[in-house]
Amino acid sequence: MGSVTDTANMGSVTDTTNTESGKKVTVIFVLGGPGSGKGTQCTNIVQNFGYTHLSAGDLLRAEIKSGSENGTMIQNMIKEGKIVPAEVTIKLLQKAIQESGNEKFLIDGFPRNEENRASFESIVRLLRIVPEIVLFFDCSEEEMEKRLLNRNQGREDDNIETIRKRFKVYMESSLPVIQYYGNLGKVRRIDAAKPIDVVFEEVKAIFEKVDA
Ligand code: ADP
Ligand code: C5P
Ligand code: MG
Repeated sequence: MGSVTDTANMGSVTDTTNTESGKKVTVIFVLGGPGSGKGTQCTNIVQNFGYTHLSAGDLLRAEIKSGSENGTMIQNMIKEGKIVPAEVTIKLLQKAIQESGNEKFLIDGFPRNEENRASFESIVRLLRIVPEIVLFFDCSEEEMEKRLLNRNQGREDDNIETIRKRFKVYMESSLPVIQYYGNLGKVRRIDAAKPIDVVFEEVKAIFEKVDA
């Protein structure tokens, strides 16, 4: 416990006070490969545990639709499966956090690489917010590929060419972030290859402990 500027104390739960509002802010990162079921399970968690779900990918897609000046850059990066600079994504997350009025957040699909993680940490340290735990939805590429090709949400990146690029970025850039949090004892691994309701049973057991 104690200093939140100390990386070794990232596990501190009692210090998660947002100095701006004076409220205790809880952040849970939801990570795992594309199609591992992050969004699906976040919807279940919201219904049962009162969190606000913030999907970095959804926020970026909304930013494209809004006609923002960054829209074209974001669209090109998503088509290539590349990770948008943290500065852009964090601004969207911060705005959504402020607008939510909630104090409990599932941050889904972020941090996605080292640059995302380091930028977020430098900002949240000032606000005294630390990720409480990291949910890791672990699933084989074969299963994720099947799910993405059947998702049918009209996403421009759910085609086999972009999916392969996303898997490569996941292996090279996102898994090291999960390993980083694993070394801090924060990761709760979930077998995401199982059916949706079975996965949620595992998720529920984790949240019952977090909220206890
Ligand atoms: P992510 O947010 O991790 O990319 P989604 O939650 O959007 O993944 O899920 C990708 C697709 O797979 C969706 O069509 C969803 O309905 C389906 N799906 C999610 N979880 C499972 C599961 N456990 N078993 C089978 N299909 C799943
Ligand atoms: O999480 P989701 O599958 O919705 O992400 C879709 C795409 O959005 C990613 O492949 C990436 O191009 C972009 N993204 C990003 N930075 C994040 C999360 C998503 O650039 N932190
Ligand atoms: Mg998603």
